Amino acid sequence: MKATEIKPDIFWVGALDWNSRDFHGYLIEKGTTYNSYLIRDEKTALFDTVRQGFKSDLLHHLHQLIEPEKIDYIVVNHVEMDHSGCLPEMIELIKPDKIFCSSMGHKALLEHFHRPDWPYEVVKTGDTISLGRRTVKFIETRMLHWPDSMFSYIPEEKLLISSDAFGQHWATSERFDDEVETSELMAHAAKYYANILLLFSPNVQKLLAEVQASGLEIDMIAPDHGLIWRRNPGAILEAYQRWSRQEPKEKALIIYDTMWHSTEKMANAVASGLLEEGINSVKLLHARKNHRSDIMTEVLDAKALILGSPTLNNNIMPAMADVLTYMKGLRPKNKVGAAFGSYGWSGEAVKHLSERLDAMGIPLVAEGVRIKNVPAHETLKDCVELGRAVARAMR
Ligand code: FEO
Repeated sequence: MKATEIKPDIFWVGALDWNSRDFHGYLIEKGTTYNSYLIRDEKTALFDTVRQGFKSDLLHHLHQLIEPEKIDYIVVNHVEMDHSGCLPEMIELIKPDKIFCSSMGHKALLEHFHRPDWPYEVVKTGDTISLGRRTVKFIETRMLHWPDSMFSYIPEEKLLISSDAFGQHWATSERFDDEVETSELMAHAAKYYANILLLFSPNVQKLLAEVQASGLEIDMIAPDHGLIWRRNPGAILEAYQRWSRQEPKEKALIIYDTMWHSTEKMANAVASGLLEEGINSVKLLHARKNHRSDIMTEVLDAKALILGSPTLNNNIMPAMADVLTYMKGLRPKNKVGAAFGSYGWSGEAVKHLSERLDAMGIPLVAEGVRIKNVPAHETLKDCVELGRAVARAMR
């Protein structure tokens, strides 16, 4: 790969990770990128580094442009290890005059690398530094994705270096949004939002309002993961507005596990009820056949979450516990819910599923349906009616 000029004398110098498949529990089926950027000016600045193990890629790209030792500044927009893993080695090599970071970034760097001797310069929202022909304006973006996160804005180029925000986990040889299929790009961006940023939606809303109020002109957004938004940065800003409002579509998910297909039969009957009542977008998601992060992507714009599990050892199936634990942490909003499940003797699963929905603040729109052992045509009617009741509550 080669360093890519994204604006005059501003370069992508990051690394492609084609083979990673797991990002703390999120299935990144197409790998990812660790984007790092270099601005060559009277002072030369490197914006973020890359994950440990990818230093040679970063160095390979830097050597195409400059001797790394001649870099003056390092800007740490985010301390998470996928961007700072090789920071100590790069600092050792570059010996920068200054390392710019937020106050929370300073704390996080000390707690990660235990190097009080590094030349930190703490910045806050609105602070600027001059590189010569270009200025860097810092904007703190707490919790997008960590407390330390910040953006770096280059006003002369209308360029926003946006750290984790607006990213995608997707390894590609292409660098820009206009070089790939828009539908695939937006699907990756949606999965990233649903699995990384959904719980921080109130922060996203606040930030977008501040950006709008400040009149910041943006014609390119360069995130720390995935493709750079060159043709249409407005598309991802508009998507973040929509996703952060958590506006649901008329879409129902039946998320279930099954032991001997009884709960699966119930799931199908619930789906029939939804369809009969006019809900066209109904998805059955078996918790052991769909990755938790793909289920979460579907949750992003769903209105109804209908959970099904047989009772296993007085509890729910482990794959359902996995999905629901993950989901709760991401705090989905504006949903309605219901529960169902088969059982052999004790039958607690529906109660547990209902409690999980309640703990997420998702109202139950009907009493849960339990069926002992194998459903019969007559008892499945209760599941059809459950689907119908959920459909009515979705409107
Ligand atoms: Fe890409 Fe929060 O790290």
